[in-house]
Amino acid sequence: MPDDVLFQPLEFRNLTVRNRLFRSNISGRFDNYDGSGTETRINWELKFARGGAGAIVSSFVPVAIRGRIMPNYATIDRDDRIPFWRELGKRVHEHDCRFIMQLSHGGRQRDLPGIEFEKGLSSTDSPDPLNGFECERMTAAEIAETVRAFGVGARRAREAGLDGVELHGANGYLITQFLSSAINDREDEYGGALENRARFLVEIVQAIRSEAGRDFHLQVKISATDHNQALLPTEGPGNTVEDTIQVCRWLEAVGVDAIHVSTGCYFPHPRNPAGEFPVDEALKTYDTMISSGTNSLRNYLMLRSGIGGKLFTAMWNHARGEVIEGINLPDARKIKQSVSVPVIATGGFQTASVIRDAITGGSCDAVSMARPLVANNDLPKLFAQGLDRAPKPCTYCNKCMVNVIENPLGCYDQTRYGSREEMIEQILSVFHPSPF
Ligand SMILES: Cc1cc2nc3c(=O)[nH]c(=O)nc-3n(C[C@H](O)[C@H](O)[C@H](O)COP(=O)(O)O)c2cc1C
Ligand code: SF4
Repeated sequence: MPDDVLFQPLEFRNLTVRNRLFRSNISGRFDNYDGSGTETRINWELKFARGGAGAIVSSFVPVAIRGRIMPNYATIDRDDRIPFWRELGKRVHEHDCRFIMQLSHGGRQRDLPGIEFEKGLSSTDSPDPLNGFECERMTAAEIAETVRAFGVGARRAREAGLDGVELHGANGYLITQFLSSAINDREDEYGGALENRARFLVEIVQAIRSEAGRDFHLQVKISATDHNQALLPTEGPGNTVEDTIQVCRWLEAVGVDAIHVSTGCYFPHPRNPAGEFPVDEALKTYDTMISSGTNSLRNYLMLRSGIGGKLFTAMWNHARGEVIEGINLPDARKIKQSVSVPVIATGGFQTASVIRDAITGGSCDAVSMARPLVANNDLPKLFAQGLDRAPKPCTYCNKCMVNVIENPLGCYDQTRYGSREEMIEQILSVFHPSPF
């Protein structure tokens, strides 16, 4: 389909991707406890490379152990991690797919603490409001050290032969904890006015440019609107899209090559990943977190009481709204109109005609897909065959998300399978390399 915009190459300043269909960041606990990578992660990423995605944007890759959100995620905190990522990149490249590493730091927002450190670092010393993970306010020296860790992480990604890096500046992790007016309560040069709150991110971009060069692809995933009051109605609203547009302009000025538009200043959030909150399924795994955060026992009991679960889902659905597919397009469009670098939008995409309209209508240059590709690994190939949607699309049930704390990542919506056995076999297939 040479004329189809979905399959036209996208040219960034230092990178060309062969189509407009990116695999968005998504990962399970596929690696070793200590952050070394495994063949299972390679199997996972190859599913999407084979399925026709033009580029894979990795899941959360911690630049420091203290930036980890749970164990069993491969890290980029040391030089001896490089060979694993080099092998992963090489295998993905064999399918004409690019690989962009998401450089990440969780700050105060975590899922499972692990044994290496007790408290996360943050812009603030207030615990995360959802689960109540306690944290320490970063000193100037800790900020400088973390900025450097991002820079060195990018240099390692480049040495591994990867195609670029993305900064995880969205969804409530450490960079959001600096950017967001709802979280950052500092009184030094990293807090207060927007320019100060953006200083940490800008310094990270500068560190990456000096460690990894100006010609290495660098994009930033950012929450266009914080929507802080979605689950926390008594708190401030957080950053507006106008704030984020200004941040994106600064990012472009310091040499960022693309913006990846997401939403929400915590994770999960009713608008990200947009869909249901599967209370019954969550109760099977959330118990793992009860001992970790000061609010998690309260949350667990609230969800388990019938009425609490019902109230929570009503609040969740109200805050999400009606639109799921393309939920971030209005914000992406405003950002695209304000910067000249390409804009990638995430959020519910799984219909070829919707994606085509988003690109040709000027809202974004490409889309990234997470759950729809977990449900249908070969969705780009189905689009290339002329299908507008997969025969069994993702239902946005979010069971994949709530399982990931304890169980292998995969599609857990049994209604999409012939039987439970078929579902389990598909989920466990990540442990068996494909012969192709
Ligand atoms: C289980 C799960 C894990 C995710 N992990 C990450 C992540 O590590 N980094 C990130 O930026 N986004 C992460 N996301 C968000 C997705 O990348 C994506 O932006 C979001 O789910 C909306 O896209 P979708 O509707 O195509 O799933 C995750 C989403 C899910 C469901
Ligand atoms: S469990 Fe499957 S159907 Fe449900 S949101 Fe995840 S990928 Fe989609």
